Amino acid sequence: MSADDELLQAALDVRGNAHAPYSHFAVGAALRDEQGRIHAGCNVENAAYPQGLCAEAVALGRLVSDGGRRVTAVALVADGAAPLTPCGGCRQKLAEFGAADTQVLCANTAGERRWTTLGELLPAGFGADDLPARP
Ligand code: THU
Repeated sequence: MSADDELLQAALDVRGNAHAPYSHFAVGAALRDEQGRIHAGCNVENAAYPQGLCAEAVALGRLVSDGGRRVTAVALVADGAAPLTPCGGCRQKLAEFGAADTQVLCANTAGERRWTTLGELLPAGFGADDLPARP
């Protein structure tokens, strides 16, 4: 199994655990860290709608909590007409831990795949380098 296939399979597997009773749109995300480990997350919705969490945010929380410090590859999957790309907020969250050339594999459950990068998804984004230097 290729590294891409492995990451996408993790996203597909975790998608099965999504808590999406309001949108009925289950999402799976899998992130590879700098040690090669995979961290996966699904969306977790809430009756108070804005309290819901995107799959990418949940996966990032798992990566950081497990001691990961960098995102080296991303895979996302949902049951859309086209492969899912991350929402704006998740692009920003992922950029915090990745690089402009970090690969993002977007997929749908029909088996379509599209490869992009964090830089392509969030051009001219705001990041740590835009903050004033700290002592
Ligand atoms: N969702 C994600 O998990 N990731 C995205 O990048 C886009 C949207 C979730 C949030 C909500 O639970 C459902 O998909 C519908 O928006």
